Amino acid sequence: MKTFFLIGFMGSGKSTVGIELARQLSKTFVDTDNYIENRYEQKITHIFQNDGEITFRTFETAALKKVSSYGIVATGGGIVEREENIHTMKSSGSIIYLQTSFKAIADRLKNDEARPLWDSDMEDKIKLYERRIKHYQKHADYTIKTDNKSIDEIVNEIKLAIR
Ligand code: S3P
Repeated sequence: MKTFFLIGFMGSGKSTVGIELARQLSKTFVDTDNYIENRYEQKITHIFQNDGEITFRTFETAALKKVSSYGIVATGGGIVEREENIHTMKSSGSIIYLQTSFKAIADRLKNDEARPLWDSDMEDKIKLYERRIKHYQKHADYTIKTDNKSIDEIVNEIKLAIR
């Protein structure tokens, strides 16, 4: 059975939506960040601090391969940074992009300390967002807008789109 991969910027709700989608479709759920934290027994912030982003990306690529046959996979916002990851996702299933405005993300993550790449100045955050959305748009099989919608509304839209 094919896997659905949720992609989108940090704070776009991939995990929250993924858990509910998996529950409603009776599929297994996994979050690549959680998988990495359990597998390497370290928080993502520590991996970035101790080993750097490149090591994190290597762990992420390996994690994605391991979980690619789960039903629903919530990915990290940077999963689109590597072409190899796109290949893994496309060859095991479909990609669902949760499209969230920068404003909504900035509101949600204003007190966040768990995301190393969000810990930068506003200009860098905007640049990262602009760069990433091009990748998300390019690779998405389905795009779901999330601003001002409840989790249930988003899940229902996804279910309609993929059926
Ligand atoms: C990252 C997003 C994070 C996490 C790591 C790097 C990114 O995941 O993988 O901090 O590069 O955008 P979320 O998208 O779940 O926040």
